[in-house]
Amino acid sequence: MPHFKLFVLPGDGIGPEVMAEVEKIAAWLTREGIVHFDIERGLVGGAAYDVHKTAISDADMARAQAADAVLLAAVGGPKWDAVPYEVRPEAGLLRLRKDMQLFANLRPAICYPALADASSLKRDLVDGLDLMIVRELTGGVYFGEPKQIIDLGNGQRRAIDTQVYDTYEIERIGRIAFELARKRRNKVTSSDKRNVMKSGVLWDDTIRALHAREYKDVELEHQLADALGMQLVRRPKQFDVIVTDNLFGDMLSDVASMLTGSLGMLPSASLGEKGAGSDTRKALYEPVHGSAPDIAGKGIANPIAMIGSFGMALRYSFNLSELADRVEKAISDVLGKGLRTVDIAGGAKETLSTSQMGDAILSALQAGV
Ligand code: IPM
Ligand code: MN
Repeated sequence: MPHFKLFVLPGDGIGPEVMAEVEKIAAWLTREGIVHFDIERGLVGGAAYDVHKTAISDADMARAQAADAVLLAAVGGPKWDAVPYEVRPEAGLLRLRKDMQLFANLRPAICYPALADASSLKRDLVDGLDLMIVRELTGGVYFGEPKQIIDLGNGQRRAIDTQVYDTYEIERIGRIAFELARKRRNKVTSSDKRNVMKSGVLWDDTIRALHAREYKDVELEHQLADALGMQLVRRPKQFDVIVTDNLFGDMLSDVASMLTGSLGMLPSASLGEKGAGSDTRKALYEPVHGSAPDIAGKGIANPIAMIGSFGMALRYSFNLSELADRVEKAISDVLGKGLRTVDIAGGAKETLSTSQMGDAILSALQAGV
């Protein structure tokens, strides 16, 4: 039986509620002898700040580095609005991404036919949608230096963020996108703002050169990031793999999430480079949605994005793609039966709680295994 170390970071808001549903599934897989998970739990975000006065402790960082995969639910909330910038909840997530060098963020947006009516777009535009946003995750304006607010001394302050990319960063994320496209519909759309940004010019040059050198068999097109945002809501099914930088990827993936019916539906995987001579990568899996403080503690959050993120861990970290397929099928079976949490209720009269949805997915998985 395969054996894996999972490091679980429920975080803040609805995080612990949706993570509990993944732990149910992991515990069942272990009980059944299908996969053995050793689970360790840690603190991130506001939860870590409350205990350690930091957004993630060094000890938990070390556990994350030592795990086969990290699962993170969500960070942040109004309770921590006034904490110092360096230790705000989001800093914990950013440190995990940076220190573990998780440069490739995969954000699939799939519209289950049963949910097409929950989308804000018309059914025929989104029904059967299946696209993948590949977001660069350790560079760009999120981490570029200088990053500061300077007092100009005349009653004015100046804020500076730095958008910076090196060739190797663009190349390695481009490779991830082209390789993924080869296993899908063989098309990559690269997106930047080369009409105003030097980093966009380098992005475009680098992706074109990589394509010409190594991936001529893949169809490559380019869309400026603003136009791509428009196309995502106009004709989203034109896309297969979208590759873009950290900030554009952040925004475009939130847009894409609504095509699928709800922000509560989108999983993601953040991957590092393969180790020398090894087939495994450092990896962290998290839903695209945030901590949703407005509904935290009510037991109504949708656990599907979190469970889908666990499914991505099975696929990308544990090489259990058959089991990952089953998890995805369990989700789509449950949706097909008309079971809904409140965010995807559409016309449904009754909705399930977070744990009822988790139980329904687990039952569907048990029935299918
Ligand atoms: C995301 C989130 C994060 C980001 C925040 C919480 C720092 O919005 O994962 O998309 O901006 O990357
Ligand atoms: Mn985001």
